[in-house]
Amino acid sequence: MLGVEDLLITEEDAQEGMQVIFVKEGEQKALLEEENAVLFSGSWLERAFLPVDGHPTLLIGLGKKPLDIFKVKEACASAAKAWTEKGIRSVRLDASVFIQEQGIETLRDMAEGALLGTYQLPCFGEKEKEQKAKERCRIGVSGISEEYRQQAETLLKEGSVLAAGVDFARDMVNMPGNFLRPADFAEKICGFLKDLPVESVCYSRDQLKEMGMEALLAVGDGSQFPPCLLVLRYQGAPESLQTIGLIGKGVTCDTGGYCLKASASMEGIKGDMAGAGAVAGALYALARRETKANVTAVIPMCENRISSGSLLPGDVISSYAGKSIEVLNTDAEGRLILADAMSYAVRKEHVTQVLDIATLTGAVATMFGFTVGGVLCDDENWYREFERAGRTSGERYARIPFYEEHEEMIKSRLADVRNTSKGGCGTITAGLFIREFAENKPWLHLDIAGTAWVSDPAFAFQSPGATGAGVTTLYHLCTKTT
Ligand code: BES
Ligand code: ZN
Ligand code: ZN
Repeated sequence: MLGVEDLLITEEDAQEGMQVIFVKEGEQKALLEEENAVLFSGSWLERAFLPVDGHPTLLIGLGKKPLDIFKVKEACASAAKAWTEKGIRSVRLDASVFIQEQGIETLRDMAEGALLGTYQLPCFGEKEKEQKAKERCRIGVSGISEEYRQQAETLLKEGSVLAAGVDFARDMVNMPGNFLRPADFAEKICGFLKDLPVESVCYSRDQLKEMGMEALLAVGDGSQFPPCLLVLRYQGAPESLQTIGLIGKGVTCDTGGYCLKASASMEGIKGDMAGAGAVAGALYALARRETKANVTAVIPMCENRISSGSLLPGDVISSYAGKSIEVLNTDAEGRLILADAMSYAVRKEHVTQVLDIATLTGAVATMFGFTVGGVLCDDENWYREFERAGRTSGERYARIPFYEEHEEMIKSRLADVRNTSKGGCGTITAGLFIREFAENKPWLHLDIAGTAWVSDPAFAFQSPGATGAGVTTLYHLCTKTT
């Protein structure tokens, strides 16, 4: 992984390193000698190492279509992959085409793309040693006019901090389950946030019992590795009356419990804490940038396993809010632990609006595939702010409607609510279950079960496995909401 301090735009940097030029299709002729122009057409993500003005240069094609945020990130990620493969350790990216088409803010996307393109999986044994041998790269950016210099530094810094947040979320999700028990996960997050102005409290299993976190315990007690609840408080705007509550699903391993997953669906069970990872990654970036916002993260952590004390389908459990829950499927565990975290956030942390994020339903991936996340929201102002954040990050989300008939689908005959739907609509009803515990606060729900993990990445800034979905959008949401 490239360090966050690696992106610099000092004059000196602009002079050294191999130049990297991004070229729209058809515009290569103006740059290259005639005999070289036939070797590179500038088609989308085409790469070539050719001399420009007598200097060795990495050329990256941008195609003909207009750019967007993802395309900028992809082009820079693709360039980073190319220079890393060649062992080049010092580069200078020409930002001019991007700035021309996308404005100065594109620098943040360039930084994110260049850093995320060379993400390295956490590795073990001999593999880990091989990785350590790889050296860091110095990245400079040129093509920025003097008047934008200060803004440029801020944007590049912001992009590199965001990339570090995304990297962390990816690392957590990619980490094998046996290296990331609930307690390890809490410790990793606290370690990542140390030295930053974030207050953290981790409630142990025994404390959860005292507090009455019945739903979290009902799931987590099925494992010998006990559950916990991590609370993180960042107060960047003490004068503001608003505190955003971010609630992230932290199931470090989801076997399904007694409703055991089929072995073919077990590949991703270690990644069921991507929601929690996204919350932690965003909080890191917010604190590093000293953002003016108050944000409290509440992260329930547990494993969903089989033991003689595990939940059984048909069980009725209680919850922190006191509502009874009929558990009809033990694999629908995320909503149970999020329910307790949600009511805790509202009642004890006094958050004024809530957002929960989770790898919650396979149904969302059936609907939107692996590039679009699902959103449910019951407050138009909150949704507008989210939409703006999504536009800034470039992440793709689609809002899903819901009506009273969907609320009917999670009514139980013997308890206050049931954890599966009587009538399909799996993504909607999972969200509405959590909303039951939001105590009428403006509520926004992100289902990232499709986007958090990709076996076959659609974008060059991703690699197979965890994507870090949600980090950048949550960051921008909190940045703009005070
Ligand atoms: N963590 C899973 C959802 C999931 C599925 C994430 C695929 C990533 C990829 C969740 O706990 C789950 O198992 N949900 C069930 C709910 C059902 C039993 C009502 C599902 O979606 O099948
Ligand atoms: Zn499950
Ligand atoms: Zn799950």
